[in-house]
Amino acid sequence: MNTAPIGVFDSGYGGLTVLKELIKTLPEHDFIYLGDNARTPYGTRSFEVVYEYTLEAVKYLFSQNCPLVIIACNTASAKALRNIQQLDLPKVAPDRRVLGVIRPSVEAVSEITKTGHVGILGTVGTVTSESYPIELEKWSGGSVVATVQEACPMWVPIVENNEIGTEGAEYFIKRHILNILAKDSEMDTLVLGCTHYPLLIDTIRKYVPSHINIVEQGEITAGKLVEYLHRHPEMESRLSKNALLEFQTTESAVNFESKAALFMGEKVEAVHVRF
Ligand code: DGL
Repeated sequence: MNTAPIGVFDSGYGGLTVLKELIKTLPEHDFIYLGDNARTPYGTRSFEVVYEYTLEAVKYLFSQNCPLVIIACNTASAKALRNIQQLDLPKVAPDRRVLGVIRPSVEAVSEITKTGHVGILGTVGTVTSESYPIELEKWSGGSVVATVQEACPMWVPIVENNEIGTEGAEYFIKRHILNILAKDSEMDTLVLGCTHYPLLIDTIRKYVPSHINIVEQGEITAGKLVEYLHRHPEMESRLSKNALLEFQTTESAVNFESKAALFMGEKVEAVHVRF
């Protein structure tokens, strides 16, 4: 069958939290999910390396006939997306599109916040890139006046090692939430700026006061993609719709399948790929 799926890329499993919402919102579309599990995590890697890896993955998804690629990973969106859109796409595939998760979150936050004070939780890579504060300043239309950030380097390993709900997890979650709350008492919106964090939501909620909105990216990214496809019927018409879903990983398929179930809430079948 000749398909033109939406490619969804992440450094590993985390992007499955985004994929899950994309499938719910666009159930007829075809998707290829690609996890670079062999080289994960990206959160602690340099700008150059994240850019190189992400570009390789995007080119690979183009070779799989994806007209549109969603970079579900915050770190890759923060460190690689702009270069890919501005420098690489015009050369390698001017008729294809690559979108990320930061811009949809920025648009959503701008609509939600009343005080204009926003907090961002993310990996070290996302936080040090300053992408969120820069994009919020640029695209919030003045509705965001202050952004504070907190890197939570232990949260991804907590999820990856299935330590969710343990005492250790609680310690690190409490610590980072209290840290970011102390940075701005007027904050009314807090972004979970990392693919893995929605899996920690129960513990996160225990420490975030109820007047603060917690923004999870899966639903937001899916909603903004629908809006994008409405605005770009030429892209929408190129995408195939057979409700096909393929999981690809640069690690072993068996490893992927065992952990992916945690994120997807059901068993999946994966194939190992190289690029
Ligand atoms: N997917 C990454 C992100 O959203 C987290 C995992 C990693 O560090 O690779 O930032």
